Amino acid sequence: MEASAVGYPTDPIQLGRHPGWPATLGRLRVPGGLVGLRPVRLRDGGAWSAIRSRDEDHLAPWEPFAAGSWAQRNTPAEWPARWYGLRRLGRSGLGLPFAITVGGRFAGQVMVGNVVRDPLWSAYVGYWLDSRLTRGGVTTAAVALVVDHCFGPVGLHRLEATVRPENEASRRVLDKLGFREEGLFRRYLNVEGGWRDHLCYALTVEDLDVGAVYRLIREGRATRR
Ligand SMILES: CC(C)(COP(=O)(O)OP(=O)(O)OC[C@H]1O[C@@H](n2cnc3c(N)ncnc32)[C@H](O)[C@@H]1OP(=O)(O)O)[C@@H](O)C(=O)NCCC(=O)NCCS
Repeated sequence: MEASAVGYPTDPIQLGRHPGWPATLGRLRVPGGLVGLRPVRLRDGGAWSAIRSRDEDHLAPWEPFAAGSWAQRNTPAEWPARWYGLRRLGRSGLGLPFAITVGGRFAGQVMVGNVVRDPLWSAYVGYWLDSRLTRGGVTTAAVALVVDHCFGPVGLHRLEATVRPENEASRRVLDKLGFREEGLFRRYLNVEGGWRDHLCYALTVEDLDVGAVYRLIREGRATRR
């Protein structure tokens, strides 16, 4: 008798697993260090808070509005609830909450969210990195690893990213990875006290003749460890 006939879930997503999660990706060597990705952990709270508390000027212009001051929202005590929510997203199949590591240390996050399977097979990707490690190719390498993972084991067809037009660094990351600009979303996200326009970037499986990681390696931007 099939398990479903006696009331047990057989769908892997109902069982708390979904394709490609949990996952550890990498590592890639770039000028900024040795880059890897793994699921966020409860014990990341200290590093997460230390970086973000110091980096308000670097991060706040790009992140959605939330209640409370920056300092309050980024204390170590805030992390367990956030981590728990992220872990639930990962387990439910709705997201892939990765930590970026550089030289094995927590350095930022790549979030694949809003995972929609049949019929869209789509998700968005967002990211941030410790300001002390920027301009070294770290985020480009991290997102390349995530792109290949999403188009491979996760089975997605399309990835989107939304970026404020003035966010040159983030746009450059997407350009280097071959994301194309598809249009402008008007008053899309409430950032720093106002609803800000965002450019929509996207990449589909067909856009990549080779994997995103292989493309970085071919262009001399990264090497495998
Ligand atoms: C955007 C961000 C993740 C980029 O991380 P990173 O590891 O520095 O990215 P990379 O080094 O892989 O690539 C950044 C590219 O942008 C370029 N760049 C950086 N700052 C720039 C600026 N102010 N103007 C123009 N180009 C800039 C870099 O030179 C590099 O391009 P290059 O390789 O051709 O030299 C990081 O700056 C960050 O955390 N920003 C704040 C959060 C954020 O904006 N998140 C994204 C929201 S959509």
